[in-house]
Amino acid sequence: MSSHKLRVDMFDLVSSIARIVDMMSPAVGSHHMQVAYLADRLSEELNLSDDDRFELYIAGALHDIGAFSLQDRLDLLEFEDTKPGEHSIAGSLILDTFKPFSPMAQLIKFHHVPWKNGRGATQGGESVPMGSHIIHLADRVAVQISRRTPVLGQVRGICNAISARSGEIFVPEHVDALLKIAKREYIWLDAVSDSIEVILRRTVVHQRRELTIEELVDFSRLICRLIDFKSEFTASHSSGVAAVAVQLAKLAGFSRYERRLIEIAAYLHDLGKLAIPSEILEKRDTLTEDEWFIMRSHVYYTFQVLEPFEMLRAVSSWGSLHQERLNGTGYPFGLMADDLPLGSRIMAVADVFTALTEDRPYRKGMTPESTTAVLQAMVDADELDKNLVDLIFNHYETMNQMRDTAQKEATREYHGFQTDLQRCGK
Ligand SMILES: [Fe+2]
Ligand SMILES: [Fe+2]
Ligand SMILES: [Fe+2]
Repeated sequence: MSSHKLRVDMFDLVSSIARIVDMMSPAVGSHHMQVAYLADRLSEELNLSDDDRFELYIAGALHDIGAFSLQDRLDLLEFEDTKPGEHSIAGSLILDTFKPFSPMAQLIKFHHVPWKNGRGATQGGESVPMGSHIIHLADRVAVQISRRTPVLGQVRGICNAISARSGEIFVPEHVDALLKIAKREYIWLDAVSDSIEVILRRTVVHQRRELTIEELVDFSRLICRLIDFKSEFTASHSSGVAAVAVQLAKLAGFSRYERRLIEIAAYLHDLGKLAIPSEILEKRDTLTEDEWFIMRSHVYYTFQVLEPFEMLRAVSSWGSLHQERLNGTGYPFGLMADDLPLGSRIMAVADVFTALTEDRPYRKGMTPESTTAVLQAMVDADELDKNLVDLIFNHYETMNQMRDTAQKEATREYHGFQTDLQRCGK
């Protein structure tokens, strides 16, 4: 069964992630898509190969993915780089955990390295890919574009600012390419268009890749790290939910293949948290009403990203419905029991069980007695599926053990990531 192939369009996958990361604030606009678009126009002008262009598109669309807080994202929109290092390394470390994305991880790692008249060809003994310098240029052009005045009136100023830094900050050949494409008005109008993703879909050389179910599990694990490593508070949550959900699915009679799908759904169930600033995820005090609304919206964003993927239909409905309750009091759809498939009921139970039992930096997980009482109360209120909760009660020890082991492993990985981050940042 594990030889199942799924047709996945990498363009669609990457664009959806870029879109969600940019939802963090309207102030961020569509920065990732803009950089991907400008990098693609530059690489077209520079006659790069289709493969190189596609790698640059992915790297451009995800380049600031390692900037977890809203403040970091806003700082990066300043034209003069102030703290370029950490987010580049964080993004590259996470992307590098998925083999097919290793080349893009290298591009992202160095996307703020100045050219320094040729000395920027290497950094810390490593060679800096030319693509990193292209992303750097595209990024610095994008941050200068304002939506407050007509974009065509800004072109001269932007080109002057970039030209003044040719050689010192940017590769002169890349600056020449920019000055050439800058004469084409449509490029600027595309860059500020609300349809930029549609335009990109037309211009980027598409690569449709077939992923095996195992590759898709690996890819979702990468996304899981992006989601969970945003904050120490959530660092191992989705891994815990995955362990519990897979075990519950097994007891409920799911096939091997379906269990792989439920594992993917668990890794992705909090995908929408990519749109939530880490300032809110990490807040120790009670959230304000507005912050709570922002937090709740993550489930809707998970749905928005996953729903268009035909081949991930089951994953999408299982993952996006994890806050729905059988009695209709859940969100964001308020569905009733009849509309909640077994997979999403499993996800809801696994999510609640993990949230109750996991340790957080500011509090210990609940005891079995308290956990059981809360779950039972939720069954009595017709919120969670009784049969599934009974499965937890009947296998409490094993279930909790599996969750704990998975979360310890994820926490170790998280600390390894933090250590690497500090080591590379030096
Ligand atoms: Fe950046
Ligand atoms: Fe950027
Ligand atoms: Fe959630």
